[in-house]
Amino acid sequence: MIKIRIPATSANLGAGFDALGLALSMYNYVEMEESDRIEIISADNTAVPTDEKNMIYVAAKDLYEVCGKKLTGLKLVQTNNIPMTRGLGSSSACIVAGLVGANTLLGKPLSDDDIVNLSAQIEGHPDNTAPALLGGIVTAVFDGRKVHWVKQEVYTKLKFVAIIPDFELSTEKARACLPKQIDFKDAVYNLSRAALFSSSLLTGKFENLKIGVDDRLHQPYRMGLIPGAKDVFDIAYTHGAYAAYISGAGPTIMAIADEENEFFAGKLRFSLESAGLGSWQVCELKIDNEGTTLI
Ligand code: HSE
Repeated sequence: MIKIRIPATSANLGAGFDALGLALSMYNYVEMEESDRIEIISADNTAVPTDEKNMIYVAAKDLYEVCGKKLTGLKLVQTNNIPMTRGLGSSSACIVAGLVGANTLLGKPLSDDDIVNLSAQIEGHPDNTAPALLGGIVTAVFDGRKVHWVKQEVYTKLKFVAIIPDFELSTEKARACLPKQIDFKDAVYNLSRAALFSSSLLTGKFENLKIGVDDRLHQPYRMGLIPGAKDVFDIAYTHGAYAAYISGAGPTIMAIADEENEFFAGKLRFSLESAGLGSWQVCELKIDNEGTTLI
């Protein structure tokens, strides 16, 4: 059996809609071996499809097809620490696990570039899949056929604190609420902030992050789908967050804070409880620079 570790990811990073994403220190694990039938075990009892619709299996089968091989079955053991449908890249983690696992079983015929491309084609956008594979912060442009990307490792004293509600929000629903067209000035608003965010994160100019996460493409429309989100943003900023944004398509809100803001997570928990939002989980994470690894 091979064993793979895949990080959670946070996409968009505010203004970088469908283009920016980073990997975080929360991991799914997948064990995989070839078999003549499909046998899928959920080690932590998370409900997952146990037939050919399982996303890890689908992705593995796609890679086999690309390589001209037929996949007749797999034994999979999944451990799902990344909560599903919460904006932390759980489906991308499955896709990347399937592709990396299948590529390893076949003796690594495909390159990282190939896997970045395949995973974006399966998912539709690269901002979760690329950092799930590569780690760090990834800037990615998917031209419909190929992903043009840059991965940068990030060594900062920042904590990324995921504030995760107990309800789900499907990416489909969160994309359906977006406008078909936007104003020219709103396009400029976003592209300038997306560029500011990544350059400020990488150079340590953290006072820019709050401006950098502001956007007019998706967050204003998605706020209405996330009850309590405005209070969560206010609480994060009250306790000194550099920035807060909707992680991916939501509903998780990500707060970025300085490592020296020692009791940030505890203060958040306390304030959330007082605001009647005690069902939101607070999970303190760091940027993962390794991406998907065989362990
Ligand atoms: N960029 C995507 C979105 C991420 O915001 O819809 C979710 O997969």
